[in-house]
Amino acid sequence: MAENKSDKKQHYISHKESRQIAKENSKAIRRFERAKKRKARPEEYLTEMKDENNIVEFDDLHTYFFSDAGTVKAVNGVTFSVPAGSTVGVVGESGCGKSVTSLSLMRLVQAPSGQIVSGSIRFRADMFKRDSRGRKIPVYETEKDENGNDIPKLDEHGKKIVKKNELGGTMYEMERQVVDIAKMPTDAMRTIRGREISMIFQEPMTSLNPVFTIGNQLDEVGRLHIQGISKERVKARSIEMLKLVGIADPEGVYKKYPHELSGGMRQRVMIAIALLCNPKLIVADEPTTALDVTIQAQILDLLREIKGKINGSIMLITHDLGVVAEMADYVVVMYAGKVIEMGTAEDIFDRPLHPYTIGLQKSKPTVDQVTDELYCIPGFVPNPINMPDYCYFRDRCDRCMQKCSGEYPGYVQVTPTHKVACYLYGNGDDREAEGKEEANG
Ligand SMILES: Nc1ncnc2c1ncn2[C@@H]1O[C@H](COP(=O)(O)OP(=O)(O)OP(=O)(O)O)[C@@H](O)[C@H]1O
Ligand code: SF4
Ligand SMILES: [Mg+2]
Repeated sequence: MAENKSDKKQHYISHKESRQIAKENSKAIRRFERAKKRKARPEEYLTEMKDENNIVEFDDLHTYFFSDAGTVKAVNGVTFSVPAGSTVGVVGESGCGKSVTSLSLMRLVQAPSGQIVSGSIRFRADMFKRDSRGRKIPVYETEKDENGNDIPKLDEHGKKIVKKNELGGTMYEMERQVVDIAKMPTDAMRTIRGREISMIFQEPMTSLNPVFTIGNQLDEVGRLHIQGISKERVKARSIEMLKLVGIADPEGVYKKYPHELSGGMRQRVMIAIALLCNPKLIVADEPTTALDVTIQAQILDLLREIKGKINGSIMLITHDLGVVAEMADYVVVMYAGKVIEMGTAEDIFDRPLHPYTIGLQKSKPTVDQVTDELYCIPGFVPNPINMPDYCYFRDRCDRCMQKCSGEYPGYVQVTPTHKVACYLYGNGDDREAEGKEEANG
């Protein structure tokens, strides 16, 4: 489609403007980087969960990229939660902010240009208890004295024996705390990443290091996150994990390099790495996109099986509605950096409300319908640097009304589990929907 003159003008930035943007960006970036590096007191990032049944709560999260062309509001006020023990699917078309949301949770947004600007990511974590000097407190083996009291057990050199945890690492005193990941300093975040939350990326070949064996890479993660673990235990754990993810010859694969494995096996290795420290939450960002259909089904089965075994939760990011329908308990639909609809999988698949969600469903190929051309949502996502004030979907929406040119619609709670940001279902001001019949019809 040919761009008209006014469109061109809208996207054009003069050299002077670009310099001014760069100057402002570097000021903002310095401020955010300083905040990340400073030694924050725990009180500054300890918080409370809104709902005790959740493991993660995103609350009005804003993550921006400060580019010379302007600020890309990649995540622009995202609010949703992951209930403990459930799978939450995050869907939306390319560029809508799914990966940036998950990278914000891991605190892996590409800095310095990418920064969490505001909002909260509350996470229920088991944190190390610290003594007055900030050191972790080990748990010691005990025995009973003649009066039946617990006393520390001593080794042959008279030293207290440190207790080992189920993974074979040093056992430390822990406390359950709710932390706001968005406000945590970088060093505190390192104790959560990998141990409490782990991530499976889309393309295993780019995530695995080609010059190290699979065993090296698994062992490294084990040594890093399971302190005090012996060399033999770490190897045994790596092989146990390879077995758990269904690799037939775990000892053989342990010695191989990534290029010697198939795509499906590499993705299994990535899942084994993610599982190594028994995380509470696994973030899987398009875990099956690079795989063929049969391997895709195997990997999804594996994820489902593993979720049961570790009793954890999964945040599954995908643009494939079929994958979400098969896996997710809850679904979050994102569009242009915002959540536009969320609900249980049945809510979203059987009763989609937002015209964008309806469009996504229509554009999915089905076997029982013969058609010459697949449905395609007309138009494009607005320029992320210059987002409008009104509903971001307005220019593509076939049900657009006059009201839709007003301010961005708020959420309408259509049922206790189903929320949508669209004027079709009420005033969009977080009130109970007035158009309930219409919504469910
Ligand atoms: N490092 C970066 N620098 C600048 N902009 C970025 C960067 N990473 C992501 N973005 C922008 O942030 C927005 C959201 O990107 P994101 O990767 O989260 O999309 P996505 O929903 O994961 O898409 P996909 O389905 O293609 O993976 C996009 O507009 C993208 O251009
Ligand atoms: S608010 Fe209006 S423009 Fe936006 S999706 Fe709903 S009907 Fe369409
Ligand atoms: Mg992505």
